[in-house]
Amino acid sequence: MYKAKRLEFSPKKLKGISEKQIKLHHDKHYVGYVNKRNKIENKLKKGDLDHIRELKKGESHNASGMILHEIYFDCLGGKGLKPKGDLMKKINEDFGSYAKWKKEFKACATAARGWVLLCYDWRDHKLHNYVVDFHDGGAVWGAAPIMAMDMWEHAYYLDFGPEKTKYVDAFFKNIDWSKVEEMFERYTEE
Ligand SMILES: [Fe+2]
Repeated sequence: MYKAKRLEFSPKKLKGISEKQIKLHHDKHYVGYVNKRNKIENKLKKGDLDHIRELKKGESHNASGMILHEIYFDCLGGKGLKPKGDLMKKINEDFGSYAKWKKEFKACATAARGWVLLCYDWRDHKLHNYVVDFHDGGAVWGAAPIMAMDMWEHAYYLDFGPEKTKYVDAFFKNIDWSKVEEMFERYTEE
């Protein structure tokens, strides 16, 4: 049984993203994915093989939805600013500069029908920005997301309507880079 994680920041304190938006997103959408993942796993445990394709597709969708939302909420609650230390060094190395990385990441937001992810790939030891449709369309095996920006309409429509770029700017103002750095360290530790 998977248990939904609580928010580690106060949604009232975010800049530009409302408490109502975050609460709906967390309590309804994220918790919904956790519950659906549990339901599917229970059916699989009972040996329901008649609907195996539907169950496995649902498992991937809801497991990925749960995981990406946890990374998304984990990355929020900070002051924006910029990454530091080894992560900043790696961004400069793999993208040329922080500005170039950010420009590509933001451009990905307009192309995404789900998520924009900053991933570390343990196969090529590089950082990549990936565009994901739904929760799992566009995943690259071995690439671990260290930061996730939710581009589903449910993430921003209440506050910004169709103005995606305003939401993206607000997201950047609330990134907790120390959390992203922690994730990066976890995957790059020898
Ligand atoms: Fe979402």
